[in-house]
Amino acid sequence: MKFQDRICVVTGGASGIGAAICRAFDAQGAKLAVLDVDRDSGETFARSLRGAVFIECDVADAASVKRAFERIAQRWDRTDVLVNNAGIVGREEYGRVQTRRVQQIEDVRSGRKPGPLRATVSLTDEQWRRMIDIHLNGTFYCTREALLQMERLGQGAIVNMSSIAGLDGGFGNPHYAAAKAGILGFTRAVAKEAIQQGIRVNAVAPGFVDSPLRRSLSEALQQLQIAATPMGRAATGDEIASLVLFLASDDASYLVGETISPNGGYLTI
Ligand SMILES: NC(=O)c1ccc[n+]([C@@H]2O[C@H](COP(=O)([O-])OP(=O)(O)OC[C@H]3O[C@@H](n4cnc5c(N)ncnc54)[C@H](O)[C@@H]3O)[C@@H](O)[C@H]2O)c1
Repeated sequence: MKFQDRICVVTGGASGIGAAICRAFDAQGAKLAVLDVDRDSGETFARSLRGAVFIECDVADAASVKRAFERIAQRWDRTDVLVNNAGIVGREEYGRVQTRRVQQIEDVRSGRKPGPLRATVSLTDEQWRRMIDIHLNGTFYCTREALLQMERLGQGAIVNMSSIAGLDGGFGNPHYAAAKAGILGFTRAVAKEAIQQGIRVNAVAPGFVDSPLRRSLSEALQQLQIAATPMGRAATGDEIASLVLFLASDDASYLVGETISPNGGYLTI
């Protein structure tokens, strides 16, 4: 059991990819802290695991993150692994863009000139800030708290959840792409610094993954995503989880500041 009695912290662990990561750590003997804003799902989910506790935490709130890591320190006195996974898609703005995108495709099919997407000009300050707050600021707040615990041990591993949108810009979600690209820059910068204290930091940039987040998109958009993926299907949460566990494990001992993108052939670089 690769993570026997290691203290592993997963943000956004109550659902989708985060839950798959938690199950995989649990199966490898880890002691898990499931951090999420969704208390009901988080508590129920953590109870279904062998060695997990749920800690309510809003990663966009530095004080909430600090309290969560204090609870982890009180319980276990250490953090060995952090997975910064919590995220949102921005339901309102994504819905707006989806409708226009589907219309654009209809226009092309009917021989009409497609209308503009108008994604960036339609974004409100609040939508922009919320996206950056949860993904980028949240990754920073959690990383800072985890590093404080890991540097005492002189070891640890952090895995940050980016997206192919952070690599190729995606389409129609500039705030999501900016946040996910920011996470990659942050990963590289912190990785170079933290490895000097024995702490490895890496990132995962998945393509389309079957999860409640993806299932909330329109059927038409889900079909577009699959059509753009040579493998012809979305990844499962378990496929992303196995990569995250590899990066967090000693098997990846020489990987520092790396981004690995499981994307079914969508993007090959
Ligand atoms: N599903 C995909 O196709 C896909 C692709 C690439 C990257 N990702 C990324 O993977 C991560 C997980 O996505 P998912 O598809 O499992 O989504 P999901 O909606 O199923 O799960 C996200 C979890 O994050 C939690 N969360 C949201 N805001 C939070 C906050 N402020 N503080 C703490 N927890 C919060 C939610 O409550 C939820 O439990 C996200 O970062 C997402 O951007 C997803």
